[in-house]
Amino acid sequence: MTHFIDIVDHSTDWLQHVLDVAHALRAQRQAGQTNQPILAGKTLAMIFEKPSLRTRVSFQQAMYELGGNGIVLHQQEVGLGQRESVADVTRVLCGMVQGIMARVFEHEKLRQMAEHATVPVINALSDHSHPCQALADIMTIRDEFGEDLTGRTMAFVGDGNNVSRSLARLCSKLGMNFTLAAPEGYTLESELFDRINRDVPGVTAKQISDPIEAVKDADVIVTDTFVSMGQEEEKEQRLPIFAPYQVNAKLLSQAPEHAIVLHCLPAYRGVEITDEIMDGPRSRVFPEAHNRLHAQKGLLAVLLGNA
Ligand code: CP
Ligand code: NVA
Repeated sequence: MTHFIDIVDHSTDWLQHVLDVAHALRAQRQAGQTNQPILAGKTLAMIFEKPSLRTRVSFQQAMYELGGNGIVLHQQEVGLGQRESVADVTRVLCGMVQGIMARVFEHEKLRQMAEHATVPVINALSDHSHPCQALADIMTIRDEFGEDLTGRTMAFVGDGNNVSRSLARLCSKLGMNFTLAAPEGYTLESELFDRINRDVPGVTAKQISDPIEAVKDADVIVTDTFVSMGQEEEKEQRLPIFAPYQVNAKLLSQAPEHAIVLHCLPAYRGVEITDEIMDGPRSRVFPEAHNRLHAQKGLLAVLLGNA
């Protein structure tokens, strides 16, 4: 039984396998065939402490297309850690469903779930990480540059947040260099970079403050909201600090011509990214969003279907 809480918990081979299954299931669907009902009789419980469009629809649709079932549970009804302890909610669900995914404010809740679960637990975003998004992003990058991403470079321009943390990890697992350009005080923990640079020979991971420096040799430029869910009170303080980190035509003019742009969405157009870039020829933002469905399928097929 395997959980999917953080990228760092998994080997490169395992992650590549999930991606390969995802690409294969997508190819089948795109050829007009239906996927085999490999999750028939299986149900995924999906707990949401925060709003969602992509994660909710992609998981529910993935379960449906693989012959299984998904049950959405909102925090107002479940009261995870409030109405009932995380451990007890987990124990109850494990007697009824074959998998649990949860979007939580505190990452620690996912760790507690995993500790008490007898079925796989999936991180659908926490304050710490968003590994499901990273899988879909890598699918999108593979679509552009092929399966072997060794030596490619990702520049994440913006916040040292859940999304950039998972991408830093997944890039390093796949031999990609990673640069975070973030304002002082909004970077990721330096130990993450120290560990990657120490443990993964040939990969460079760094964080700097200059967005131009970050994009100048990037194959992929990624951004995300400057104000993540749960940080709404910091909005006024954050927006002026992050203003120089907007992904716009001026910044893109400093990047290699082949560089593509990703954003996990939802996007605040005109804030972290301009319409011109979101809707322009270098944007892969919507295929990236659609790849959430396929990435989820790969993950569920492996975790719940032993693919
Ligand atoms: N990118 C992402 O996770 O989107 P949602 O918040 O809509 O699920
Ligand atoms: N960093 C963002 C991602 C949203 C999908 C957040 O946590 O709100």
